[in-house]
Amino acid sequence: MRGTARVPGSLPWGNTRFGGGLPYSRLFMDAIRVVGGRPLEGELAVLGAKNAALKHMVASLLAPGTHRLDNVPDILDVEIMGDVLRHVGARCERDGSTLHLEVPERPVPEAPLELVRQMRASILVLGALLARTGEARVALPGGDDFGSRPIDFHLDGLQQMGVHFDLVHGVLHATAPNGIHGADVFLEFPSVGATENLLLAAVLADGKTTIGNAAREPELADLAAYLSKMGAKIDGAGTSTIEIHGVPGLTAAAHRVVPDRLEAGTFALAAAMSRGSVTVSECVPDHSRMELQKLQAAGCTVAVGDDWFTVTGPDRPLPVDLATLPFPGFHTDMHPQMVSLLAVADGTSIVTENVYTARFRYIGELNRMGADIVADGQHVVVRGVEGLSGCEVDGCDIRAAAALTIAGLRADGENLVMDASHIDRGYQDFVPKLQSLGANVERLRS
Ligand code: EPZ
Repeated sequence: MRGTARVPGSLPWGNTRFGGGLPYSRLFMDAIRVVGGRPLEGELAVLGAKNAALKHMVASLLAPGTHRLDNVPDILDVEIMGDVLRHVGARCERDGSTLHLEVPERPVPEAPLELVRQMRASILVLGALLARTGEARVALPGGDDFGSRPIDFHLDGLQQMGVHFDLVHGVLHATAPNGIHGADVFLEFPSVGATENLLLAAVLADGKTTIGNAAREPELADLAAYLSKMGAKIDGAGTSTIEIHGVPGLTAAAHRVVPDRLEAGTFALAAAMSRGSVTVSECVPDHSRMELQKLQAAGCTVAVGDDWFTVTGPDRPLPVDLATLPFPGFHTDMHPQMVSLLAVADGTSIVTENVYTARFRYIGELNRMGADIVADGQHVVVRGVEGLSGCEVDGCDIRAAAALTIAGLRADGENLVMDASHIDRGYQDFVPKLQSLGANVERLRS
């Protein structure tokens, strides 16, 4: 690139044309190329949940020694959390889908900006490090495409447990001069992250903590199961009221991570969109109950077993209204994928986003494919069109990239989902799995 003038006003490189007239995005490309029209067929086993594995890795910091986590997906976010653990002095080694975690007697109580910036979930070391060391220095995570995403519920709850906070140059300095003590905390919203941070702090706290209006997500119940194996005293995980009796110490343990209901749901949508039939196995169908119910309402045929379900797509989906909500409501992380399906429905659907203030960037990309979607406040109005046409779209974020790849399964021509690295953050082997179900899809990297 030496000697090439930077184009004024454009972002460094922008989409200026270089060597041979190729736009920048084609020179350094990481994209998923999908050619639509093939119904997906076959079976697919899901792996463990990203949104559980990340928290279990943090929870291991609560007990020195060697932990073992099985069924951990090999994805970017797990790698980043591995870096966070290494930064605090732990060892983290992968052996297939197993992680071996070696936690020191005294972790370094710090999570720097360069790691927190890469992944918000790093903020969860706050509760664990405070519980283990009585202090923590964690960079304050910023907002993202989903809105400002504050952590006020985390901080309010920890303050009630005796934690003091100072914000210095964007870093939260947290101390518990008199140790962490139990408290009766009632959350303003059943935030997953806040419930997890308070749980991680409470297991070693002095006395009893009650978390009211707690998150009920299956990943949270799985975290509590792992903590209980370490010796924690927890009641009510998975309900709106969690009670924790602090204990003096915990011991290292082994745990198998709960299956990923988002991976399961995403492949269910891929089956429906492609007019195909896919069995998703090694999952917990009950964790996807609302999503499967909405797929049935959209005209899919759904069969359910103990640890599998089969989704068979209709020729043309029916319109469906839905609202995203904390579990057991419709998962916000399935919102973009579901809108891809409703974009070709025979009628108009309304999707209301109740968890985030903004998660609508994918809409512009779907409309570039010929969809007819508008966002109005928290409501997404999806006027179904006959068909979509492939083009170059921006991956935006983990779930949007999955949704745009799924849209390509039914689009006319080639669909190119750029910035596909978003997918690697949340899905292991996304493209090979789609190929195994018969999709005409490939990963293009240059
Ligand atoms: C977890 O994020 C998941 N991430 C998200 O999945 C998921 O969308 C979300 O839960 C909801 O299910 C991980 O588990 C790593 P929240 P989290 O705290 O914990 C507001 C994916 O694609 N809020 O339940 O950050 C917040 O702004 C990701 O895998 C406050 O206002 O979610 C949001 O609007 C994306 N103050 C809402 O609550 C707070 O202190 C839900 O946030 C905390 C949250």
